[in-house]
Amino acid sequence: MLYRQPLNQRQKILKKLGLLGRFGVIFSIVLGSILLAWIVMAQQPVTLNLLMTAPDAQPWKQGIIKDFEAQNPGIRINIIEGPNATNLLEDLYTSAFILGESPYDLINMDVIWTPKFAAAGWLLDLTDKISKEELAAFSPKDVEGGRYEDRLYRIPVRSDAGMLYYRKDLLEEAGFQPPETFEDLMKISKALQQQKKANWGYVWQGRQYEGLVAMFVEVLEGFNGFWVNSDTLEVGLDRPETLNAIAFLKDTVKEGVSPPGVTTYQEEETRRFFQSGQAAFLRSWPYAYPLANEPTSPIKGKVAIKPMVHAPGQSAGACLGGWGLGIAKSSKHPEEAWKAIKYFTSREAQRRFILNAGYVPSRKELFTDPEIVAKYGHYPQLLEVVDSAVLRPPIAQYAQASDILQRYLSAALTNRMTPEQAMKSAADETRRLLKAGQAKI
Ligand code: GLC
Repeated sequence: MLYRQPLNQRQKILKKLGLLGRFGVIFSIVLGSILLAWIVMAQQPVTLNLLMTAPDAQPWKQGIIKDFEAQNPGIRINIIEGPNATNLLEDLYTSAFILGESPYDLINMDVIWTPKFAAAGWLLDLTDKISKEELAAFSPKDVEGGRYEDRLYRIPVRSDAGMLYYRKDLLEEAGFQPPETFEDLMKISKALQQQKKANWGYVWQGRQYEGLVAMFVEVLEGFNGFWVNSDTLEVGLDRPETLNAIAFLKDTVKEGVSPPGVTTYQEEETRRFFQSGQAAFLRSWPYAYPLANEPTSPIKGKVAIKPMVHAPGQSAGACLGGWGLGIAKSSKHPEEAWKAIKYFTSREAQRRFILNAGYVPSRKELFTDPEIVAKYGHYPQLLEVVDSAVLRPPIAQYAQASDILQRYLSAALTNRMTPEQAMKSAADETRRLLKAGQAKI
């Protein structure tokens, strides 16, 4: 009897211990699995979504994305290919932002989008992530295009500026110097057409889309006109200079220098037309240069570029284009997104991207990099064009202002309205838009 009591207690203790032990095992298994799942999850790469135009996606996919992913195994870049028109791409980004959680982490932004996206609060402010010294390596105009109200939202990846391409072989054969004025361009075109050296003189982007406006600001600048002064918000669309610019474009078609189809052409249609050897002059961006000189191109080695023509006594206008990266405020991976931006805008990545795709750098020193110049001899000259290029008005209502100009300009070019009527309406609508914008502030 005496020893039974402690035995029972021992048994009870042992039983309890057994129970605890079993719980312990189960608990450890559960904890272990959670830990394992967490480790597996932590090892899963973070995916950053990035939407861009389909033709842009190819050089990205071939080169710098692969390099970045190899150096950063924890981050994947998922490129989504969008339509090949900046305004359509902007619509996709805009509707994603308006609907709430945007699926995009990195925003591949045209230089004209920054004010709108920043004003709407869709972008992370990158001002404090990059020093003044680091920014000084980029072309100042490109950096400017990434600012809104003194804050920085976009880091330039590649620059762009409109220019005039010409067939140096044809001009030399016929004894012409490259044209300086609008008149020269018409005169040389007609002569080459008469001599049956070229079917057409000049091709330009005339479809109703953003490219029309980019092309038009160059002609406007060449006539000393302006669209919107972003400091004073003055609108210059109903001034005589604008009507002169429209008259020049209409004349190219009326006088048979440009094919009637130009009013439906975007960049790629004009590039193919010129590259097939059908025209003596083309207005385009630098991306067309390596394509025109590719081994299968009928005009390989026969092309030169120069700043756009202008009216006598005026200077050439180049529209500043270009693309850069921002981060969506709604991104769940801002740290990784910044890491990607730092890489894609680095000297090394840009250098490879340019050598591979022939895009224009945004880092100044690359314009004169010996390896790049050996491949693209015209780059040092391009830096001057980029530095003096004209920004489309950096205003938050840019997309609407551009839409107004696109509609009325297209109506004037396709004879649906007289240029006077069209530009009067365009100017009035633009003034109303800017006034409404000011009222909101
Ligand atoms: C080019 C330019 C861009 C411009 C577009 C118009 O992509 O880089 O700035 O808006 O062409 O088509």
